[in-house]
Amino acid sequence: MKELQATLVRPDLIRAHNLINGKWQPAASGKQFAISDPATGKVIAQVPDSGPDDARAAADAAAAAFPAWKQALPRERSDILRKWHAAILANGEDLARLISLEQGKPVGEGRGEVAYGASYVLWFAEEAARIYGDVIPQQQRGKRMTALKEPVGVVAAITPWNFPLAMIARKIAPALAAGCTVVAKPAEDTPLTALALALLAQEAGVPPGVINLVTTSREQAPGAVGDWLADERVRKISFTGSTPVGKYLARESANTLKKLSMELGGNAPFIVFDDADLDAAVSGLLTSKFRNAGQTCVCPNRVYVQSGVYERFAELLSKRVAALEVAPATDESAQIGPLINDRAVDKVARHVDDAVTHGARLLTGGKRLPALGPNFFEPTVLADATADMLLFREETFGPVVPLFRFYDEAEGVRAANDTAFGLATYFYSQDVRRIDRVSRQLEAGIVGINEGAISSAAAPFGGVKESGYGREGSRYGLDDYTIVKYLCQGGLQ
Ligand code: SIN
Repeated sequence: MKELQATLVRPDLIRAHNLINGKWQPAASGKQFAISDPATGKVIAQVPDSGPDDARAAADAAAAAFPAWKQALPRERSDILRKWHAAILANGEDLARLISLEQGKPVGEGRGEVAYGASYVLWFAEEAARIYGDVIPQQQRGKRMTALKEPVGVVAAITPWNFPLAMIARKIAPALAAGCTVVAKPAEDTPLTALALALLAQEAGVPPGVINLVTTSREQAPGAVGDWLADERVRKISFTGSTPVGKYLARESANTLKKLSMELGGNAPFIVFDDADLDAAVSGLLTSKFRNAGQTCVCPNRVYVQSGVYERFAELLSKRVAALEVAPATDESAQIGPLINDRAVDKVARHVDDAVTHGARLLTGGKRLPALGPNFFEPTVLADATADMLLFREETFGPVVPLFRFYDEAEGVRAANDTAFGLATYFYSQDVRRIDRVSRQLEAGIVGINEGAISSAAAPFGGVKESGYGREGSRYGLDDYTIVKYLCQGGLQ
């Protein structure tokens, strides 16, 4: 821990405690669990291994803080969010380092995540003052009907390890803007950034009880989160993570009929038509696929290339992928860091082996890199991928590009839609009519057209089918944290 603190300008950003009702405290049981650096496997900190008692204390605090926070003027909530935004940017270098250390993202990308996460805080600081309702045109004399937007109540935010800062910021910021209070559980692999973020929120003036954060190990998580699922005071769950866990949360919270936002798995297709600008398509694929070493829900998982440009595209792509710099995340030159843990590397290796066994051609990569550390894997391109391979059905969540071949537009679209998921899709074409047709036919919440970088605080992020429901970011992102209350006032004439 001391070693970790020594790498930061502000060593006190490392919090080894839960934040409950404005106080930093250990788990009621006193238990802790270890956080390790995925590049080396070395333990870097210990944090509370919280259970149901801690979760309940967090919900008690959030429920008690809700009435006052709901009554705060929108402009007051906005001002506090703006101060939080400024504090995140002021401590950006420390936060980027922390992200790299616990998650494995190259430090340059860590800086990008700080700016990306902070942009959600600023966005919702601005939106806080613009949560309008409606005055409904009069239907009967003597009656006035209005619709107000009110905060939904206590929100449970459950966040993933792949964006330790941005995902919690894009849940807490709209919750606070709307007037909700929060209980949060960051992923067990990456709680340190979330704890630092909570400290900065406290320093920015977020009152005690408005943000409560508990950390748990994978083993304890069902007990702690289970308490929130059964708690009728927790009115909403916002979850980013896998589809099986999303379904579990939806099932288990059904007894208290909570409002849910589910940002789940992707299995994103990326289609390159014969008429695409191939250099642009290769660059777009590199941007979207190798962000965070392939560990995002919107990373392309299946790349469909039309037959006329298949071999040329494969050649251009393989050259660029082979040149990517794989190195420890803290190394300034790194473009690809370690994967999050051994389970992640095992899955990537299994997908590559299975594809090769089923006839895929390995164009570049394909191996673990033990000389660099336990969790490194070479960026990989596989040609001749087919639908009977594991990587067609499952998200690889790693630096592997499988190239599937298709012959005409209808087949390409059909293949892209042939999945239970529907988060992001991408396609490259220079034909305006095709762009219009294909964007309407793709079954996804997000479509990148001749563009690999789709994420923005100003845009609605979310999926369809088994990728979930609800939208994060944009003006739609606040709806998930509000309820519409209808007022009908009579006797007015
Ligand atoms: C995710 O992987 O869940 C989020 C990616 C993004 O916000 O771009």
